[in-house]
Amino acid sequence: MKIAIISDIHAPGNAENPQIRGELAEMLILRAINRFNKWIKPDVVIICGDLVDGNDNDVARLWLQKIRQVLEKLECPFITVRGNHDPSADYFYKIFENKEQFDIAGTRFLVFDDKQEPEFCASRTENQIKRFKNARTNFEGSIISVQHVPLFPTGMSECPYVYTNAEEIISEMKKQNIFMAISGHYHKGLGHIQSQGMNFIAAPALCEMPFGYMVVEIDGDKVSVADDKMQLEPELGLVDRHVHTQLAYCSENMDAGLILKLYKDFGLADIVFTEHSGQLYFEDNPFWTGECYKNGLEGLNKKHNRMEKYFDLMKENNVPKKSIGLEVDFDYAGRPMIKPEDRERVGFLLGSIHKLSEMWKETVDWGAVRQEYLFRTEAILKSGVNVLAHPFRMFHRKGAELPVDLYEKVVNMLKQYKVAAEVNFHSQEAEIEFVRMCVESGVRLAISSDCHNMYELGELWPHLKMLEKAGISNKDLGRILL
Ligand SMILES: [Fe+2]
Ligand SMILES: [Fe+2]
Ligand SMILES: [Fe+2]
Repeated sequence: MKIAIISDIHAPGNAENPQIRGELAEMLILRAINRFNKWIKPDVVIICGDLVDGNDNDVARLWLQKIRQVLEKLECPFITVRGNHDPSADYFYKIFENKEQFDIAGTRFLVFDDKQEPEFCASRTENQIKRFKNARTNFEGSIISVQHVPLFPTGMSECPYVYTNAEEIISEMKKQNIFMAISGHYHKGLGHIQSQGMNFIAAPALCEMPFGYMVVEIDGDKVSVADDKMQLEPELGLVDRHVHTQLAYCSENMDAGLILKLYKDFGLADIVFTEHSGQLYFEDNPFWTGECYKNGLEGLNKKHNRMEKYFDLMKENNVPKKSIGLEVDFDYAGRPMIKPEDRERVGFLLGSIHKLSEMWKETVDWGAVRQEYLFRTEAILKSGVNVLAHPFRMFHRKGAELPVDLYEKVVNMLKQYKVAAEVNFHSQEAEIEFVRMCVESGVRLAISSDCHNMYELGELWPHLKMLEKAGISNKDLGRILL
């Protein structure tokens, strides 16, 4: 049983408490959902209260609806708890189902909406305490109590917000062999303690830096609890060198100004904007169909050239040259699609393949695909780009088998032309074997988000997890990263 816990989202924030970053609610929840769906794969997600901040005011009520919609993207069941800053029960349970008990993968979750007490405390009524006994009747599996205010044994946590009748509740829990209590509310979080054969957990607030959450794994009686967060360790000094803007045709909600405001909050040391050259020079149709790669820049129609718009956007936001880059497309002849005068104005270049002509023919000749791939990759590397973007993406895109036997050739070329290899999880899993070979050959890695939605900005979590799996620890990063 794997349980992911996010708590205290506090959308859309609170003017009196600037450390509460409820304005980031949607970004943070989407980032969590993306991690959960793609990599963590919990059996259930618990949202442990204070989804919004503002009780029954109109803005808070609207945000509650919005959060409900966002949570629908989860690929596993979720349980929501009503917190002291959420709307009244009448309204809350119009938006979220009023369900007190969930049986998921053999574990029984009891959700409590307890009485609030002064000083942000709570208490549980006799009737509610009786639910433990009822839940235990004819049920042998693990039972978990879920509530907003930390339910911890008296004197065993630093948290001043407590259950005024904690002892009474916990003694009944012991009697009914309740396995665990999961809470939120205390924004610092309280980690995990074991007492009287039971487990007590309080998750940190998602809305406060470093934007924490928890993952609890239960295997029989064994419990392991991992604290994790949405923010990168600022000490790592990581740079996201693949950031799109509102000018990308594939942008979902990118906003260059907002990116500049937020990247440090997500733990990044710096960013580099890298808009697609092919999308700036050409209209969306010739870009997506691949028509623009047939004649490259010779087919450029001045009327549709948006490159100047990109530089205007950079200027409006005072972006220094070192942070203005381009993700350069290469035509089928292997020529970079970037005008010399535009190249002068940028400080960084990614080189990309977004289409292989041989791959999209009616009958595919895989020998020809491989030839084209190698020819165009070498053309990119020769051209003097800094990084080869998403090296094998086209094979993932096509759902084709990865050309594992080409890894060595590509690594050798990267080494020869002194170009870094991008590690990119945007629409595929990066290839750990290829990454290992790059590290062994001394080819530098660029770990990048390739963000097209604000929630992806600086999301380098899967990259770091993969490097860890490849035996590369954080202290090696300086040696292996661009
Ligand atoms: Fe809270
Ligand atoms: Fe790309
Ligand atoms: Fe990109």
